[in-house]
Amino acid sequence: MSADGVFQTLHVLGALMWLGGMLATWTILRPARLAGASRAQRLEHVAGIFPRVFGWIWAAVLILPISGVALLRLRFTGFETAPRDVQIMMGLYVIMVALFLRMQGLQLPALHKAVAAQEWADGLAATKKLRRLAIVGLLLGLAVVVLAVARQLNDV
Ligand code: HEM
Repeated sequence: MSADGVFQTLHVLGALMWLGGMLATWTILRPARLAGASRAQRLEHVAGIFPRVFGWIWAAVLILPISGVALLRLRFTGFETAPRDVQIMMGLYVIMVALFLRMQGLQLPALHKAVAAQEWADGLAATKKLRRLAIVGLLLGLAVVVLAVARQLNDV
């Protein structure tokens, strides 16, 4: 496989990891899953799942820019000559990372803290915020994929 093929494959896998991670977060935190008598147990269980789910998202956060910049250099020589679509892709990536850092740095610790203190109302509030950020992250990721695919179709 050519270098271009390797980086393109990595880039698409990175996009899938991002979308999968955000979709998993959104699905795991469905209010119906967290409601009911055993809410405490469920919140504890959910808080325990996140290090694994977020591990995949961290992998995407690293793989996407590395493979993306490699593709940029191979196909368009550099940042200045990159097409507008690719520049929009990079801009959206920055917003996506800012959003994920908020999930990782603020909402997830708030959830763990609430579970440790057995403050279930606070825990539920943290899951709501995490879920809201996850759907925004998912929609942004899908928008970037649509942008990339539309670009490919225009080139055909
Ligand atoms: C620093 C961030 C990023 C850079 C530098 C970057 C760069 C690029 C470049 C140069 C291409 C090839 C465009 C072409 O040849 O027409 C590409 C394609 C693509 N990008 Fe990105 N990208 C970034 C972030 C993202 C993100 C966040 C996603 C989605 C979650 C994404 C999804 C895609 C997809 C699906 C393609 C089409 C792949 C293909 O050719 O089959 N990229 N990107």
